[in-house]
Amino acid sequence: MQKILVLHGPNLNILGTREPDVYGRLSLAEVDREIRRHAKARGVGVQCRQSNHEGDLIEAIQKAPSQGFGAIILNPAALTHSSYALRDTVSAVSIPVIEVHLSNVHAREEFRRHSVIAPVTRGQIAGFGLQSYLLGLDAALGLMAKAR
Ligand code: DQA
Repeated sequence: MQKILVLHGPNLNILGTREPDVYGRLSLAEVDREIRRHAKARGVGVQCRQSNHEGDLIEAIQKAPSQGFGAIILNPAALTHSSYALRDTVSAVSIPVIEVHLSNVHAREEFRRHSVIAPVTRGQIAGFGLQSYLLGLDAALGLMAKAR
């Protein structure tokens, strides 16, 4: 079975209680449950992981192809706007990476409007809450089907 890796960056472990007006009231466990449900309906495997540490995310992306993942859905959280290290990893990995955000980063503070990661991804989906991940998953499936 094909499988997709979903990676959540810093502070996404506190979803549900973190600025609910911006990020919604679903906890990360609830978001992951919906992602798994969507993946199951599409007949694809999915693994969801969260880390508050840049190095963990970098290592997860580096290892993803050898672990059999065909694509990565990445919400880099605040690292979106600052991490050249994460950007270099995304740029180097051989499988497609799709950047997702719960909030519409382009309608928020100035610093959130710039992603250092987006130019080395296959595309960015932002502003649709949980749906951003589900749309990302469908986009990843399309890319994986094309690559086969
Ligand atoms: C976020 C947007 C980022 O600017 C922010 O730092 C986050 C979450 C989002 O999903 O909307 O932590 O990536």
